[in-house]
Amino acid sequence: MRQTRERVAVIGCGNRGRVYMDLVAEQADRFEIVAAADPIPSRVSRIKSMAGGKSFKSFSSADDLLDAPKLADVLFVTTQDRYHYEPCIKALHKGYDLVLEKPMCSSIEDIIKLEEVATRLERRVVVCHVLRYTSFYRKLFDIVQSGQLGTLISVNASEGIGPWHFAHSYVRGHWSVMEDSTPTIVAKCSHDMDILHWLIGSRCKRISSFGSLSFFKKENASLEAEYPMFAARRYIEPNVRSWLAQVFDYSGVSEEEILTWLDDSPWGRSVFACNNSAVDHQVVSLEFEGEITATFTMNAFDEGRNYEITGTKARLRAGDFCSQHMDCDIVVSEHAGGKVRKINVKDQNPHPKYGGYHNGGDVGFIKALPKLLGSQTPPLTSLSTSMHSHLMAFAAEEARRTKQVIELSAYYQGHKSSEHALD
Ligand SMILES: NC(=O)c1ccc[n+]([C@@H]2O[C@H](COP(=O)([O-])OP(=O)(O)OC[C@H]3O[C@@H](n4cnc5c(N)ncnc54)[C@H](O)[C@@H]3O)[C@@H](O)[C@H]2O)c1
Repeated sequence: MRQTRERVAVIGCGNRGRVYMDLVAEQADRFEIVAAADPIPSRVSRIKSMAGGKSFKSFSSADDLLDAPKLADVLFVTTQDRYHYEPCIKALHKGYDLVLEKPMCSSIEDIIKLEEVATRLERRVVVCHVLRYTSFYRKLFDIVQSGQLGTLISVNASEGIGPWHFAHSYVRGHWSVMEDSTPTIVAKCSHDMDILHWLIGSRCKRISSFGSLSFFKKENASLEAEYPMFAARRYIEPNVRSWLAQVFDYSGVSEEEILTWLDDSPWGRSVFACNNSAVDHQVVSLEFEGEITATFTMNAFDEGRNYEITGTKARLRAGDFCSQHMDCDIVVSEHAGGKVRKINVKDQNPHPKYGGYHNGGDVGFIKALPKLLGSQTPPLTSLSTSMHSHLMAFAAEEARRTKQVIELSAYYQGHKSSEHALD
């Protein structure tokens, strides 16, 4: 472990950058925020006020920060999906260790090149697969590892993004046009691929996938009146304001001014009149080493994450459905009428403001960070582990697009460039 406080800088001070820096600022004995970069000055100012220190430096772009002499030990890269690779490569050459938001990069080629450079330069890159740092997923992992389910046979996992969340992010928002950001299965579900990879504990061998954009499209414009739940003016409702806050700083702004802002904003559009391409449902089937099979379903109209894990001795059900309807977080049922155990997971990282963010994963991740950066052993979300999860997600998209079974080792080799990464 490093002994002194880690000096932290951030590029991209939007939604994610702000949450991480707020949590980092709470650990003033372990971290010092020394710089931030974003073209929107108010966003940098907000980080500056969290940092508090007199030596804090503001920059208006990632390039400006990275052209300056190295000023921190760790750089958080929380810009949008398409602008991860270039600043990461520059920062690695400059000597920074990185905390990198998922998706790591917007193409698998770039992810592979990023790993090559980081490995060559011996820099640490920790990817924000924050779900691994929640008490719930840690408990799932421990149960699977303990052997109480027997030999693992199969996993069914699902993620319901939720209709409003989907409309906000994947119809009107940043990830609505897959070609300009990343495919939904990468943007949203690289978390789910990562959890499958972690729980199963082996590498994925092959993948098939189907899915499409069925509902949120122009052909369904006549349904507008039937679906008031998607109306843009709902952004002024108190329980929807937190979504607005992700894209518009409305403090001190009247309802009328919010509505005027919406008129000119992508978030003011009808969900049937956007130029979106993100699929609203997708299924993925996967085979892992050890002949373990898995399925994963992403669906805009379901809510929450759920798991069914079957082993030779017992089966497990877990997730949002259990919590809402079965009065527990996890149920383990031994086969042949054996014992049934209901488990409630106590959140080890409760937090008044961010406890609900990724099930407590954001809080757990930042708490674990000094250890992740400092220890000799690879972090839970090491670059190579996260690269495999991303490989699964990109291969799933390729399988969906081409309607073919994708062999992961061939897919990896096919995207590994013979050229050297950016220098
Ligand atoms: N871990 C998770 O679960 C999770 C959740 C949501 C988003 N994400 C990912 O986090 C990343 C950031 O998402 P977000 O919602 O915070 O986005 P955002 O749009 O709110 O923030 C991105 C910020 O980058 C800034 N920016 C643009 N160009 C820049 C430049 N040249 N230099 C410096 N800053 C620049 C923008 O002004 C903006 O403030 C994305 O890759 C996203 O997919 C991860």
